[in-house]
Amino acid sequence: MSYQTEYRESIDNPQAFWADKAGALNWYRAPRQVLSKDDNGIDRWFADGELNTAYLALDVHVEQGRGDQTAIIYDSPVTGTVARYSYLELTEEVARFAGVLRAQGVEKGDRVVIYMPMIPQAVIAMLAVARLGAVHSVVFGGFAAPELAVRIEDAEPKVVVTASCGIEVDKLIPYKPLLDDAIVRSSHKPQCCVVYQRPQVVAQMVPGRDLDWNEAVAQAQPADCVKVQGTDPLYILYTSGTTGKPKGVVRDNGGHAVALRYSMKAIYDMEPGDVFWAASDVGWVVGHSYIVYAPLFSGCTTLVYEGKPVRTPDAGAFWRVCADYGVKALFAAPTAFRAIKKEDPQGKLLERYDLSRLKTIFMAGERLDPPTYHWTLEVTGKPVVDHWWQTETGWAICGNPMGIEAFEPKPGSATVPIPGFNVQILDPEGKPLPAGEQGSVALKLPLPPGCLPTVWGDFERFRSGYLRDFPGYYCSGDGGYIDEDGYVFIMGRTDDVINVAGHRLSTGEMEEVVAGHPAVAECAVIGIADSLKGQQPVGLVLLKDGVEVNEADLEAELVGRVRDAIGAVACFRRVLVVQRLPKTRSGKILRKLLRQIADGQSYSIPSTIDDPTSLDEIEAALDRRGLVSKG
Ligand code: COA
Ligand code: AMP
Repeated sequence: MSYQTEYRESIDNPQAFWADKAGALNWYRAPRQVLSKDDNGIDRWFADGELNTAYLALDVHVEQGRGDQTAIIYDSPVTGTVARYSYLELTEEVARFAGVLRAQGVEKGDRVVIYMPMIPQAVIAMLAVARLGAVHSVVFGGFAAPELAVRIEDAEPKVVVTASCGIEVDKLIPYKPLLDDAIVRSSHKPQCCVVYQRPQVVAQMVPGRDLDWNEAVAQAQPADCVKVQGTDPLYILYTSGTTGKPKGVVRDNGGHAVALRYSMKAIYDMEPGDVFWAASDVGWVVGHSYIVYAPLFSGCTTLVYEGKPVRTPDAGAFWRVCADYGVKALFAAPTAFRAIKKEDPQGKLLERYDLSRLKTIFMAGERLDPPTYHWTLEVTGKPVVDHWWQTETGWAICGNPMGIEAFEPKPGSATVPIPGFNVQILDPEGKPLPAGEQGSVALKLPLPPGCLPTVWGDFERFRSGYLRDFPGYYCSGDGGYIDEDGYVFIMGRTDDVINVAGHRLSTGEMEEVVAGHPAVAECAVIGIADSLKGQQPVGLVLLKDGVEVNEADLEAELVGRVRDAIGAVACFRRVLVVQRLPKTRSGKILRKLLRQIADGQSYSIPSTIDDPTSLDEIEAALDRRGLVSKG
């Protein structure tokens, strides 16, 4: 079928389209209600279908004779380990760990927080939670204790699963002290913590609360899959919004399974038995969807890689992994390829490896900038696909649908809308804009299966954050345009969310931390262009009257504060003391203008500005530190 036919069918007749796709799954009870409204008036998919996500990821393949096929390859250059789990082995491990959780009282609907590095036990824990019909919330290992605490407070888990440490290139990150600190900070206390002890660090256990993973598994009875409804939640994944409090994106079971299964063929052109590698982390949505669920739903082999694109041990790491395991599709963030390009500009390390089985390279997490696109294409000779998506959607909104019809790429564009997503460019009044004109990228409702139906515990935040600005549409928070040929260009966020090394972060959250310093009267954190990480945050601070501080000392203190409160992953390293911040006469900081100055863009001074001379001062201050982009 051509893309046009498939796409039109998905938009004109979504119920028939998705009912057909749902037929590819082994439901316990096939859904008869394809699309219905929930109590909040939100469109929901497959409400009366009954399924179990872990069953669809694992047991079904064993039943269908794929038990001996490798489900997971764990490759860990930081520990020098390679391990393989067949579908049968993984099913058994998951059933036993589900037994551990059940013994701790975890039932359908209960929450389990998972704070783990990139080891197979993280995947086992996720699938074990799903097996019980419970709800997991994975927290990225790079987040500090206060971030973990906010998530524990909000998700109210019965159990937290962790490991004794994560391993970065040149350092160990003991997780258990961070977890203990987070539990002290949270008013909700989990009744049990299961700790996977790694040989590199031995975690101190809290008697009566903490359980050793291996000991608990040795005593556990395997647990069976629990039936859930299509609309029951599978997981909560917190993501940065514009305020200090992260949003708990809720994913349901039925729509998620149908959408991801469909995407593996339509977008990535994967067949059962193929090897798929998403070089991300289970703490991010890419890890949830394309390290764990989609490859396993599709009977593929997935890679759990505990390493970096560079320095583990060199910039040939990606090519080594692709060659060793016959990876067919590689998916990573553009920043990873920029890091490789920096260390191996000619792509010399590629020559050491046989990449004949690698068919396509996919990128997402941030816009694929044309220089990185061209470089990757040139050195690998493989098709390079940019695709745009968000934690909220769980799968790609736009991309080059390699399994339906491969389009001629246009550098800088995420190609075309994926079937199911009705992508429109709107002006501030919500009117669709003509081709070529830039506006807000919005998705006409209903959203296809797999997208969030609410924010955990806060439907109003979902409504006001996504549905209020443009009635009848989901507002993505990204700006962009569609060209005459129907190619979609995503140009960046229209809010205060920034993207640092493919990690989504809130400048508002950093501002709250910076503003808490006793010397700071007011501040703005903006994202400025960075040649490796895409963007980096910079703090502009105004001191309280009469305060005298050494600027370098203040910078070090604020950098330390953000690191302790959010994590090293925020990459908050620069602070400038300024005399004034540009504001409107009503007192609102003109952040967009600050970004434009730092990005070296031309800008028009709004008539509402209070004091235009503040702009020259800021430009000069940024320039002195070499922070104005020259092109
Ligand atoms: N646990 C603990 N700390 C972590 C961490 C984790 N899982 N991940 C990152 N960090 C820390 C790093 O150790 C570093 O700490 P430091 O300031 O003490 O050195 C800091 O967070 C910043 O890390 P990172 O952004 O990874 O920078 P880097 O310079 O070490 O590496 C890249 C640069 C480009 C190689 C790396 O950012 C990368 O691989 N990015 C791809 C990201 C990605 O896949 N995103 C998913 C989107 S699909
Ligand atoms: P996350 O929720 O962490 O996946 O981040 C989603 C945000 O990252 C989007 O709203 C975009 O701003 C940005 N993003 C992700 N992928 C792309 C892409 N391919 N092109 C442009 N922006 C992207």
